[in-house]
Amino acid sequence: MARMIVVDRDGKEHEIEAKPGLKVMEILRELDYGVAAICGGLCSCATCHVYVDESWVARLPKPQSDELELLNELPDYNAATSRLSCQVDFTEALSGIKVSIAPDT
Ligand code: FES
Repeated sequence: MARMIVVDRDGKEHEIEAKPGLKVMEILRELDYGVAAICGGLCSCATCHVYVDESWVARLPKPQSDELELLNELPDYNAATSRLSCQVDFTEALSGIKVSIAPDT
């Protein structure tokens, strides 16, 4: 089983087991401190917003235009590290990735 480090909105780090093949959002929404993911992954709600640790950003595929458009509308958008977790596939190669849950918008 792969793992992921999740920083909750209080700044507390959690190391969790994570199943490759799922979207990062699908892993995070199962956590009490995770994401709401209201639209279910349709790239329309932005309630799955996370900040990817800078050392991992370059290892992810670049965001598509619809993800970027939605991210750009967020008050807490960080151009370097923000992603919509429903648009990121969790793979074995990403085991150990650190993501921080963005503030509620
Ligand atoms: S779950 Fe709605 S945009 Fe990601």
